[in-house]
Amino acid sequence: MRKIKVLTVFGTRPEAIKMAPLVQELKKCSFVDCKVAVTAQHRQMLDQVLSLFDVKPDYDLDIMKERQNLFDITRNALSGLKDVLEEVKPDLVLVHGDTTTTFVGALASFYMHIKVGHVEAGLRTHNKWLPFPEEMNRKLTAALSDLHFAPTMTAKENLINEGVDPKSIFVTGNTVIDALKTTVKENYVFRQPALNILDFKKNRVILVTAHRRENLGEPLKDICHGLRQVVERNPDVVLVYPVHLNPAVWDTAHEILGNHERIILLPPLDTDELHNLMARCYMVMTDSGGLQEEAPSLGKPVLVLRNETERPEAVKAGTVKVIGTARENVLKEAEILLSDEAEYSRMANAVNPYGDGFASRRIVEGILYFFGVSDKKPEEFNPKS
Ligand code: UD1
Ligand code: UDP
Repeated sequence: MRKIKVLTVFGTRPEAIKMAPLVQELKKCSFVDCKVAVTAQHRQMLDQVLSLFDVKPDYDLDIMKERQNLFDITRNALSGLKDVLEEVKPDLVLVHGDTTTTFVGALASFYMHIKVGHVEAGLRTHNKWLPFPEEMNRKLTAALSDLHFAPTMTAKENLINEGVDPKSIFVTGNTVIDALKTTVKENYVFRQPALNILDFKKNRVILVTAHRRENLGEPLKDICHGLRQVVERNPDVVLVYPVHLNPAVWDTAHEILGNHERIILLPPLDTDELHNLMARCYMVMTDSGGLQEEAPSLGKPVLVLRNETERPEAVKAGTVKVIGTARENVLKEAEILLSDEAEYSRMANAVNPYGDGFASRRIVEGILYFFGVSDKKPEEFNPKS
């Protein structure tokens, strides 16, 4: 029997982290011929992940430019992917999430009449502009997709409400939890010297990341001012911020948060370093999507530095709170978690609404079912089971 030819397409750090376990699972499956194409919308931050998870792309479009805009990414990824698709002629293209690579991967496949599977499908804020351009990227990708791998029941319901055929939706859990299960270790030793000398018992470590496009400029400045005040008012707090390489983020973070003995600004961390830091920290403050999924599973409270979230499950479970970007809110909400023990323990609950570590396996089973290799539809991920 001819193998199903599956081409995975991704380009940024979070896509790579969440696709790596799936690539590994696809490579193990004897019914699948798995190829990997990266647009390299990110370069160094993508390469860190590829190297950690030992993923070797078959095609690398190498499109990243400093201070690239959405037109650059769209144009260069689209023309590069045309050549790759013409050469590989896959039966199925898998894209992930909501970046511009995701949307363009789906669009290029559609133009060539190739089936599309969308991993991490169905996340919505229902606000076209927040996050920008991710909300539209994921909606447009859904419209172009034949198979929808929704991480949660809420995501599935969002897709059904938009008219997607329920038969094409598989609830799988999020593959980020598959990745997390392989990286967090009790006896982990940090390679980054600044992390190795941290005393997690003596100091309360706040892990911060912030990079979203709609937060660039004033909101990010406000966040940074608020964070500096948190550190200044709490002598046992150490803030660790691995800073995104976007110069618009890097410059602001260093300008406002630099030169403080209890603020550690680092370049992007390898994902195993980041995950193990998260497992040991006091709490997380972030505008990242991925961190909102990882931290609840490790029992860490999360303050979300945004005005909305497409990940309501952990908010409902009580471990994530959306606090916006105003400096007084950043300070106030952090102070609550630093001073109110009851509130801290209420939020510091390990919950797993996003996955059980078997999402990649369910996705492969879904692909085999879709192509008629197996007649068994994978069981839906259910956080309570
Ligand atoms: C992109 C995604 C966003 C995702 C984020 C994850 C889009 C439009 N945005 O945003 O959805 O949440 O990735 O981090 O798809 N840079 C480097 N080296 C790197 C990566 C980035 O120098 O390895 C710098 C470059 O100057 C680049 C800039 O960061 O031009 C911005 O990168 P870009 O991918 O356009 O936007 P992100 O904010 O990273
Ligand atoms: N991450 C990482 N190193 C870092 C910061 C984040 O490996 O220095 C990981 C993090 O664990 C998560 C993912 O990157 O899995 C989140 O990526 P990012 O915040 O860039 O994008 P988003 O999730 O917001 O799309």
